[in-house]
Amino acid sequence: MNFKDQIDVNRLPQHIAIIMDGNGRWAKNQGKFRVFGHESGVLSVKDIVEGCVEIGVKYLTVYAFSTENWNRPIEEVNALMELLISTINQEVETLNKNNIRLNAIGDLKSLPQKCIDDLAAAMDKTKTNTSCTLTLALSYSAKWEIVEAAKKIAELVKADNLNIDQINEELFASYLTTAKMPDPELMIRTSGEHRISNYLLWQMAYTELYFTETLWPDFRREDLFEAIVDYQKRERRFGKISEQLN
Ligand code: IPE
Ligand code: IPE
Ligand code: MG
Repeated sequence: MNFKDQIDVNRLPQHIAIIMDGNGRWAKNQGKFRVFGHESGVLSVKDIVEGCVEIGVKYLTVYAFSTENWNRPIEEVNALMELLISTINQEVETLNKNNIRLNAIGDLKSLPQKCIDDLAAAMDKTKTNTSCTLTLALSYSAKWEIVEAAKKIAELVKADNLNIDQINEELFASYLTTAKMPDPELMIRTSGEHRISNYLLWQMAYTELYFTETLWPDFRREDLFEAIVDYQKRERRFGKISEQLN
């Protein structure tokens, strides 16, 4: 039986987060430049988004560029920004055809102006779509996001618009970039690295983590379905004991 048929559609994760890793190594393994790996990785993104729509996953959030990635060689950063712009513009029609809403989180104002503009236009064109929300984490890091939320809340307190007693987990989460989304139930990282790399630290407090050796440009929807089947075999206890569940 293939993995798709093993999925229990009544217990799907609503939100899947992915760290798309291994593009550089994938290209290098073939004696190609790293940017070839990034270009090939776009095909994986397309297949995974369609896989999510196919089975009914409502939110997919992919780590496309971290705050730390600004420290890469300038040629690679530039190539990634150009790839981002061309991909957004090429794919907006397909996103609409598949009823997918495009969203972005991160320090977006640090991106090149063309990127900011094209991203905003694509988000606007897809804003009424309802099958799945695809969120790109761009110039994103979780520590940055948490500090930004703390600053906004501090401003409210300072202006006497918020009482310190009103600050709780729910309020704090409402100042994060993911405010309108459920927390991811499942996080997938490709390429055999077993770390979080400053991704969604608050939101992943109770997320199931799935690591695979597969490099991102080789990752396809069947691999996604395999990860979901693995997720569905786990017992999520949230601090309780087994006997208390059900
Ligand atoms: C992930 O692949 C893509 C980005 C971080 C933009 P990498 O570029 O990190 O590939 P490896 O980890 O060097 O193989
Ligand atoms: C994490 O991958 C960021 C993205 C996938 C965009 P990296 O390849 O940059 O992560 P580290 O630096 O190896 O942890
Ligand atoms: Mg990497």
